[in-house]
Amino acid sequence: MSLFDVYPLFDVTPVKAKDVYVFDNKETKYLDLYGGHAVISIGHSHPQYTASISEQVSKLGFYSNSVQNPLQKNLAELIKHMSGCNDYQLFLCNSGAEANENALKLASFHTDKKKVISFKNSFHGRTSAAVAATDNTKIVAPINAQQDVIFHELEDLASVEKSLQNHDVCAVIIETIQGIGGLNEGSTGFYKGLEQLCKKYNTLLIADEIQCGFGRTGDFFAFQKHGITPDIISMAKGMGNGFPIGGILIHPSIKPSFGLLGTTFGGNHLACSASLAVLSVIKSENLMENTKQVATYLINQAASLPQLKTIKGRGLMLGLEFDFPVATLRKSLIYNHNIFTGSAKNPNLLRILPPLTLKKEHVDIFIDALKKELNP
Ligand SMILES: Cc1ncc(COP(=O)(O)O)c(C=O)c1O
Repeated sequence: MSLFDVYPLFDVTPVKAKDVYVFDNKETKYLDLYGGHAVISIGHSHPQYTASISEQVSKLGFYSNSVQNPLQKNLAELIKHMSGCNDYQLFLCNSGAEANENALKLASFHTDKKKVISFKNSFHGRTSAAVAATDNTKIVAPINAQQDVIFHELEDLASVEKSLQNHDVCAVIIETIQGIGGLNEGSTGFYKGLEQLCKKYNTLLIADEIQCGFGRTGDFFAFQKHGITPDIISMAKGMGNGFPIGGILIHPSIKPSFGLLGTTFGGNHLACSASLAVLSVIKSENLMENTKQVATYLINQAASLPQLKTIKGRGLMLGLEFDFPVATLRKSLIYNHNIFTGSAKNPNLLRILPPLTLKKEHVDIFIDALKKELNP
C-alpha cells in the first residue's frame, strides 16, 4: 500500500536523537534548529522524559475519561504554577487543531453566537472551525467553508470593532506570534484593544499559543508580554516534547457542564506523564531563562550577516528574513552542513524553532554555516 502523498519530503531518515541533535540511518548527525516543527521543547530523548513515559506505560498507559486521573490534576497544578494563570480550568485533547476546535466550540456555546474573527496570515489547524479560521484557502475544503469567519489585518482595531457591532461574533482567535504566517506579532496596544472590544461585545478572546507557548519565547505564554487575560488559551506542540497532547486553559467565567466537551484519548496517562516531565525539566533546567539568553546571542550574531533584512519573533521562535528566497539555502543547510531549519509563508524567511536547550556553541555552528553559504 502506498502512503497518501501529501508531504514533500527531504531525503533524510532519522532513527535516533539526543538533545539538539538528530541522527539518520547513515549515522549522520544533524543540528535540529527546527525542533520537528516547534515540538521539541526540552530536547530529544531527555532522560527524565523517557523515564517518566516508560514508567507510566509499564503501569497504566491509558484509561478513559470516565474514571479519576490524578495525573491530569497534577498537570493542571503544574501549568498553573509555571504560567501564573491561576484560576483557569484545563481541558486536555490531542493536538493543536483539536485545542482550537474546542476553544471555538466553547466560545460558541458560551456566547450562543457563531461568527469568528481571525487575522490575515493566521494558521489555526486543519480541522473544521480551526481550518476555516486559517488564512489559507488551499487547505479549506467546501465542507469547512460554511463556517462564517471574517479576516482582518493585525493592528486594525477599527475593522474588528465594525465586525463585532452585529453582536454575532463568538470569538476572536489570534496567534500571539504567528508561526507559518511569518512571525508577525501585534503591538501591546493592539492586544489590549482586542481584549477591551471582546469584553464590550461579549465575544471571547482566544490566544492560540500552540506554537509560541509553553516557554518557547522565554515567557511561559507569549501573550503575557502584553499584559492581557485571554478567555481561552490553546496549547499543544512543546507541551509533550513529541508525545501528542494539546489542551485549552479556560477562564473561570466560563462554566463547564457534563458532556459539554469530551474526547477518548485526550488527557490520557501517557500524555500527562510526558507533559509533566516537560514542565519539570523546563523548571529544573531553567530553560525559559536559557531561551532568552541564547536568543539574544543568536540575534546579535546574525545581525552581521549582510543579506539579512530583519529578524522577527521572540525567544527561540525566530525568523531570519533575507533579501532572497531561502528554499535553496535551507537545502544547503541540510545537505552541506547537516542543519535543520524551517520555512514560512514568506519565501524569504528562515525559521528557527530549536529545542529550548540550545546553547551558544550551537548558534556558532549555525552562523558559521550561514556565512559559508552566503559568502562562498
Ligand atoms: C499556531 C498554530 N495553531 C494550530 C496548529 C495546529 O496544530 P496541529 O498540527 O497539532 O493540529 C499549529 C500547527 O502548526 C500552529 O502552529
